[in-house]
Amino acid sequence: MSILQWAYSPWGQHVPIHIAWDLIYVCAVGGLLFLIVHAIYVRFFAHAEEFEGAPAPAIAARVPDRVHRHSLAARLFHWIMAASMLTLLVTAFLPKVGVEFGWVTYHWIAGVVLTVSIIYHIIHASFYLDFWSIWPDKADIQDAQRRLNRFFGKPASPPRRFAKYPLENKMYHGVIVLTGLAVICTGVFMMFRVRTAIFPRNPYLFGDMTWGLIYVLHGLAGVGLIALIMVHIYFAVRPEKFVITKSMIFGSMPKEYYLSHHDPDRWVVRGDSSRGASAAD
Ligand code: HEM
Repeated sequence: MSILQWAYSPWGQHVPIHIAWDLIYVCAVGGLLFLIVHAIYVRFFAHAEEFEGAPAPAIAARVPDRVHRHSLAARLFHWIMAASMLTLLVTAFLPKVGVEFGWVTYHWIAGVVLTVSIIYHIIHASFYLDFWSIWPDKADIQDAQRRLNRFFGKPASPPRRFAKYPLENKMYHGVIVLTGLAVICTGVFMMFRVRTAIFPRNPYLFGDMTWGLIYVLHGLAGVGLIALIMVHIYFAVRPEKFVITKSMIFGSMPKEYYLSHHDPDRWVVRGDSSRGASAAD
């Protein structure tokens, strides 16, 4: 099976034109298998989470009952991005699996919403939030090593509690950044191939080979997002993670969850006036 569809240009050049649409099923099944294997692992094999020593009582006493996690602006961004992402997936792939409708206009409009929301997010995260809170640091790598050693029964001290985001969330964010930027950058150019209210149509902007590669990259990142979004929604509805999902709706999480999973030295929260307000919201 080829992962690309090829054609001959009017000049006889053999060029890629799209991904093979069977990749839609490959990614959907891959995502589904991940969910099943993970759910079985958690149900039958995973040990209870263990962390190095609890926060000192004096520090715990200063933490407010509800720990502020996401500002209203950050939550609105998240849900606008989620709605546009789901619209993009539905409009892109339903026609490819046989549900015919005039999808292109809905698709590029959702693409513009996603693009604008991501530009907003980059500015917001760079200048108003703690930019580094979502990128892995040395402690994350050391703790991942400790967790791995303990998993394989080797001697290692328990990992520290997390900063605002666990390593897995940071890695997921990194992958979404790459795939998201790939669909956005290619999608903006692809808008020159269709009639939109934004750019004058110009299919001659690139040659056939370059257009082909742009469509292929858009398609590959797009099908990758099927699996990535499935995994994201699966974790969002898992019972033990639901408290995090609720914080993306209401903005805060209970003190008990914060103290049992997060390190007050690595994620300083708003309301703990003795330790400075958190910029990471
Ligand atoms: C979740 C994100 C996205 C997914 C899954 C996705 C998926 C797809 C797929 C599978 C196609 C068909 C490509 C082909 O025929 O080879 C397509 C076309 C297109 N996409 Fe996206 N896309 C996404 C984001 C975007 C964004 C952000 C934009 C604009 C900024 C965009 C603009 C377009 C345009 C204009 C076309 C039509 C091209 C044409 O028919 O010639 N897409 N998209």
